[in-house]
Amino acid sequence: MPRKLSLTRRRALWLGLGACLGMGTVTGAKAAYKRYQILALDDPTRDFTVTGNAPLKARAQAKGLIYGSSARYKDLIADPDLANELPVECNMLVPEWEMKWSAGDALLRPTPDRFDFTLADRMAEFAQHHQMLLRGHTLIWHLCVPSWFETGIHTDNAEQLLTQHIQTVAGRYAGKIHSWDVVNEAIEPRDGRSDGLRETLWLKCLGADYIDLAFRTAATADPDALLVYNDYGLEYDTFECEARRIAILKLLERLKAQGTPIHAVGLQSHLDGSETCFNAEKFRRFLSDIASLGLKILITELDVEDKNLPADVAVRDRIVASAYEDFLSVALDETAVIAVITWGLNDPYSWLAETSPRSDGLPIRPLPLDESLNRKLAWQAIARCFDQCPKR
Ligand code: XIL
Repeated sequence: MPRKLSLTRRRALWLGLGACLGMGTVTGAKAAYKRYQILALDDPTRDFTVTGNAPLKARAQAKGLIYGSSARYKDLIADPDLANELPVECNMLVPEWEMKWSAGDALLRPTPDRFDFTLADRMAEFAQHHQMLLRGHTLIWHLCVPSWFETGIHTDNAEQLLTQHIQTVAGRYAGKIHSWDVVNEAIEPRDGRSDGLRETLWLKCLGADYIDLAFRTAATADPDALLVYNDYGLEYDTFECEARRIAILKLLERLKAQGTPIHAVGLQSHLDGSETCFNAEKFRRFLSDIASLGLKILITELDVEDKNLPADVAVRDRIVASAYEDFLSVALDETAVIAVITWGLNDPYSWLAETSPRSDGLPIRPLPLDESLNRKLAWQAIARCFDQCPKR
């Protein structure tokens, strides 16, 4: 005969069970509310009509803007249709892997004292052959570094590593680069520093002035290139994005005050189709704050994640297109914005396939063109934004 549970233990069990059920109910209610919120993002009557058949690059150029896309050399080689379509839609190319220290099959820095420009050169040749502008991404970042980097960088060699890399890489393509992302993702308020900087190996070895050093070195190596600070998580009316906006403005003000040769800010703009917290007026003010520092702005890695959106393709495409238009129509109202680059041109090659796949396994649809390079509602949304924005 099992020992009778004492009243207090039995009550504790019931309370625990009730709490779990309650939690479950709350969790279930929150999930149901989120699903409702997302479905409410879909407006089947929304008008995405576009005039004419002109490619995005032409619509951008008509307003004094640039439209471009990232691409990976391996994809351009494997998919001739993509290689043909890229210069049709885009007047700028950003190598997604080939100009980083190490990414995918591109190893620009095989050892601390060697460079392999094979793939970077081919991307530069592709852009030149198709008379496309070439954007360099990225000279100094804490990610996409080779296996030797973590143990290879020290306080006594970090300055030489940084300056030699920039002198060699930016020097090689001097005169051929529209703009360089000189430093990428250097802020991280969650690291707790008063300056909002990310605790990277660059910072640990060189201090906060590594950023100024990088820009000064790049300015000497390629005086013709627009020198850009690039970062993410700045678009929404959330606590995290607000903290990041404050941190990036603090960094930009410091750099400008000390005479750092910085010319522009890159807003990566990796959007989330299920995010409901976009505040147009707050974002306008942020762009205006950047412009008031005398800096230009590039939208550098635009895409709209759809992993939390409904499976239905028609609904998903409408919500993704709405996110593109709601964001870009505000961004392009700021005439300091000079370029819009999507992080990929068509869906199969989006980095989100690896980083943010859908739990239902359906192919993602974050970019302007689909798997067959057909124009989607997202393409129409971007086209409408170029057509309706003020001329530069
Ligand atoms: C990503 C590429 O798309 C991936 O293929 C690669 O594996 C990792 O880097 N912010 C950036 C880009 O600045 O360089 C990143 O690109 C995406 C996030």
